[in-house]
Amino acid sequence: MRKKIVAGNWKMNGLAETVQELSNAVADIQARCEIVVFPPFVYLLTVIDMLRNTPVRVGAQNCATALLGAYTGEVSAPMLKDISCRYVLVGHSERRSLYGETDAIVAEKFMMVQQVGLTPMLCVGETRAEREAGKTFAVIQAQLDAVLQTAGVSAFARAVIAYEPVWAIGTGLTATPEQAQEVHAKIREHIGAIDGKIADSLPILYGGSVKADNATALFTMPDIDGGLVGGASLDAAAFAKICHAA
Ligand code: 13P
Repeated sequence: MRKKIVAGNWKMNGLAETVQELSNAVADIQARCEIVVFPPFVYLLTVIDMLRNTPVRVGAQNCATALLGAYTGEVSAPMLKDISCRYVLVGHSERRSLYGETDAIVAEKFMMVQQVGLTPMLCVGETRAEREAGKTFAVIQAQLDAVLQTAGVSAFARAVIAYEPVWAIGTGLTATPEQAQEVHAKIREHIGAIDGKIADSLPILYGGSVKADNATALFTMPDIDGGLVGGASLDAAAFAKICHAA
């Protein structure tokens, strides 16, 4: 049995007061799944301190490709490890499209996160145009292969994948459970062709307008192991419902 994970990506939202309110609310969620939150960098330590004695894990939304040095404005993986982060999002579509992160950069970040002992949550997904052109899996395969070629399949024994179709992020459009399951199964098959055992135990989360009212249908699909939630993770009651659905 793979563990179910529900993760909240708060993106660049909230100020100190709302972040604290949200952390308190998340601390109170009683669910069987693992819960992870990804606050903005400046609030990471606050949230880690607030959730220290709870089962909730805290992750960072990004990290640098370098270990240390003259990289103004960057945050390194060793720093994240130092403050007790557990996860780091790697290759979120907003990083890819707005900040020019290529597959090669994403692979470097993935390696860096693992090197310091944190768990990368690798995001993959196609745009609407790519889906309409029938290229969904070719795109995702290329995103996966960039990491597989750099890090090797064994790296996926300590990683999480999030399938986030770009057209479903923040749009209110959700992949149907069948559409999502199809891609999740293909991702697992692709990894499984190299190492079946690793593929079987690899959590693959769905992200893209996950809400309280669609979470159950998505999470009951055989290859969907939970969700990476954006907008709805900022609403404590909705996020709790999503956690209960997993
Ligand atoms: P939404 O849930 O707002 O669509 O965001 C998904 C996402 O990007 C999570 O990383």
